[in-house]
Amino acid sequence: MAPPPSAPSNAEAALAALAEDAAGCTACPLYENATRTVFGEGPAAAQIMLVGEQPGDQEDLGGEPFIGPAGQVLDTCLDEAGLDRSTVYVTNAVKHFKFKPRGRRRIHEKPRVGEIDICANRWLSREREVVAPDLVIALGASAVRGITGKSGTIKSLRSEIRPLTEASHLLVTIHPSYLLRIPDEDTKKAETEQFVADLRLGAEFVASLD
Ligand code: URA
Repeated sequence: MAPPPSAPSNAEAALAALAEDAAGCTACPLYENATRTVFGEGPAAAQIMLVGEQPGDQEDLGGEPFIGPAGQVLDTCLDEAGLDRSTVYVTNAVKHFKFKPRGRRRIHEKPRVGEIDICANRWLSREREVVAPDLVIALGASAVRGITGKSGTIKSLRSEIRPLTEASHLLVTIHPSYLLRIPDEDTKKAETEQFVADLRLGAEFVASLD
């Protein structure tokens, strides 16, 4: 006989309740055109939380973060950095896909600072409270805004582990979709290596806490 499924932890139950609340979020107009809220995903006890910008076209349709082209780059780089995605909590600063229709395509539009602030204060901040990760990794500038409430350039913040709260640290790196847009192969290779090095730095940091 199969063992009975184990009861969800308090944190798992809290995340499930948050996801249910977020599914009906109308706090900013982005819900109007998106298919659905794409909430974060991963273990409630994760040591690392990865924060992207917002769901893309495929995430909006599939309902999970980072399952499209940027997600494939992320998965490959996590793997190279020795991080198993299934151990990491993956989410976004903004939970609805913002886009402009162009013919039959939906073209990604960057969320405004006000949209990031509304969404992150409502959902990302609560995901962070529940998951309580040792390390939050910001993928790009919208993530930095969502996590810190401040705008900053990736160049000035990147590749350094800095205190975020009393119990957590922040590591800033690029958004993986940046790698998809680099036309020159040598530059792409070097930038990918730097991204992997940033993720490895994060992995080593949390391992050093054990
Ligand atoms: N880009 C993001 O920032 N997040 C996703 O979930 C997908 C693409």
